[in-house]
Amino acid sequence: FERTFIAIKPDGVQRGLIAEIISRFERKGYKLVAIKLVIPTNDFAQKHYHDLKERPFFSGLCDFLSSGPVLAMVWEGEGVIKYGRKLIGATDPQKSEPGTIRGDLAVVVGRNIIHGSDGPETAEEEISLWFSPNELISYSSNAEKWIYGVN
Ligand code: GTP
Ligand code: MG
Repeated sequence: FERTFIAIKPDGVQRGLIAEIISRFERKGYKLVAIKLVIPTNDFAQKHYHDLKERPFFSGLCDFLSSGPVLAMVWEGEGVIKYGRKLIGATDPQKSEPGTIRGDLAVVVGRNIIHGSDGPETAEEEISLWFSPNELISYSSNAEKWIYGVN
């Protein structure tokens, strides 16, 4: 199955939303394969958001991401990259639907509590930026046959 990089940003961690956010991915049926709490340096945040370096909010965004603990995770499952973004909701919480993570739990675009990779290439790039290969855990879960119906 494919893998995606998901991070709870410093606002989500400070607001005590870790368990709430993890539970949404867990209950959906995705599998957690890597997790760690880190305070990224500003340099690292710039690497993570390198695609946005021409945007006016870039330096504020990097200052924010490096301002406190971030919960970095890799989640695995069929279609998890695209559907994970659906669970997260639109970038601007003013536009995210109720029922999504940002729709339910955030108010403004600069404090939208969670990051998710936006495609297969960025997922691979972000997973290797945030994790070393030995931090990615391969294991089979008993629930899989009930989630996917495989025998
Ligand atoms: P990420 O999952 O965090 O990458 O969000 P995204 O993919 O939904 O949006 P995008 O990659 O375009 O932007 C990255 C982050 O920059 C967003 O999550 C916002 O926190 C921030 N951002 C995007 N647009 C704006 C904006 O217009 N103003 C401000 N202040 N921040 C923005
Ligand atoms: Mg993005």
